[in-house]
Amino acid sequence: METIRVPVAIVGAGPVGLVLGHLLDAAGVEAVVLERRSRAYVEQRVRAGVIEYGIANFLAEIGVGERLRAKGLVHHGIELRFEGRSHRVPLSELSGGHPITVYGQTELVKDLNRLRLEADRPLLFETEVEAIEGLGQDRPVVVATGPEGPVRVEADWVVGADGAHGVAARCVPEGVFSVASRTYPYAWLGILAEAPPATEELIYCRHERGFALYSMRSPTISRLYLGVDPSESLENWSDDRIWSELNARLATAEMPTIEEGPVVERSITAMRSIVRALLCYRRLVLAGDAVHIVPPTGAKGMNLALAYVRRLAPALAAEVLEGDGRLLDAYSDACLRRIWRAEEFSTYMTQMLHPHPSDDFENGVQLARLRQAVSVRSATETLARNYVDLSSIDLADG
Ligand code: FAD
Ligand code: DHB
Repeated sequence: METIRVPVAIVGAGPVGLVLGHLLDAAGVEAVVLERRSRAYVEQRVRAGVIEYGIANFLAEIGVGERLRAKGLVHHGIELRFEGRSHRVPLSELSGGHPITVYGQTELVKDLNRLRLEADRPLLFETEVEAIEGLGQDRPVVVATGPEGPVRVEADWVVGADGAHGVAARCVPEGVFSVASRTYPYAWLGILAEAPPATEELIYCRHERGFALYSMRSPTISRLYLGVDPSESLENWSDDRIWSELNARLATAEMPTIEEGPVVERSITAMRSIVRALLCYRRLVLAGDAVHIVPPTGAKGMNLALAYVRRLAPALAAEVLEGDGRLLDAYSDACLRRIWRAEEFSTYMTQMLHPHPSDDFENGVQLARLRQAVSVRSATETLARNYVDLSSIDLADG
């Protein structure tokens, strides 16, 4: 059995675990990152696409800005499409000139992996964490299995950055975290297609047949989503059916058809919201999708997590290097305020853009909200500023 002794063990090499590992490294705190999948798998797992203005700057500051600046697509607006008409939301104009960047999570994970491996810092792929033992004691033990057999990590602190289906949150005794959650009667069928994007900016579309989102990854790759029933299965969706449904929902007089091409990836993601009411339990800290899930409309999940992981690194460093736990004590409350803001915005976007299958009252309210969002300047501005950078709006009490 391989035994590793290290101040911090990070479970999960998603964007959150990798960014935290990098920040700890810069603060002089050693960490090991354990990831159950292979490097190739995590670098191809298609997910987020939109990076907030402040987060793009933060990523550049920590040394992963080069490809993001060279290959990321800078967008100054999005389109809201409903009742057959297009309405542009001029994001930059309404948010101090700031744009968003469209850059795939796959690319960001590649950049972060490279940064860690080139610095010769431990990143163990194909190493599945099965349990975290002795959480109440001074040195919890992470029990895992790697390609060469059992691995045991004795750490002062364990960070669960292991996503929505991870093991870390499950190691906390029942009843410690209260969990607030909501499920929505929608899911997203997402595809990646070898087709040049038909538009320059993202289109969020509400159509009577359902939601659609037109996004992209590069000048030759489109990323498209269809709102579907959560019980839908991919087998029911041939390429022809996907394209014809996308066309039926997205078509307008100015854009009668969309560019089609081979579908190279497809998946269905159910929509839900989850918030665990505490981020720290003894010597375990949770971060990212392990703590909160936001519905994807509004593109906040990864942005939210990266925004507060910046606070976690100095808090852990103060604790590990100086035995000062004050920052860590304040960490949960500060993060939770931001998490709820992201939930509010994501819920607002989700409920405004997905026609309800049977509730006409809900549908009437949705259209009223959409009309307001595109015609009342203060409403458009709030949407734009929240979309570009959630932290650009200061709330009265912090
Ligand atoms: P993950 O990325 O899930 O990483 C967790 C890692 O832990 C994984 O690599 C997993 O393999 C590993 N792991 C799990 N269990 C174990 C174990 N037992 N042992 C070891 N390793 C383990 N967010 C945005 O900000 N902008 C967007 O545009 C956006 N679009 C999205 C679109 C879709 C369709 C979806 C589904 C999500 C989107 N998100 C978006 C959300 C974003 O993808 C997530 O918030 C983000 O991936 C969370 O990062 P994470 O590091 O917390 O978790
Ligand atoms: C993408 C994902 C989102 O959740 C969103 O709101 C916008 C774009 C994307 O994958 O490109």
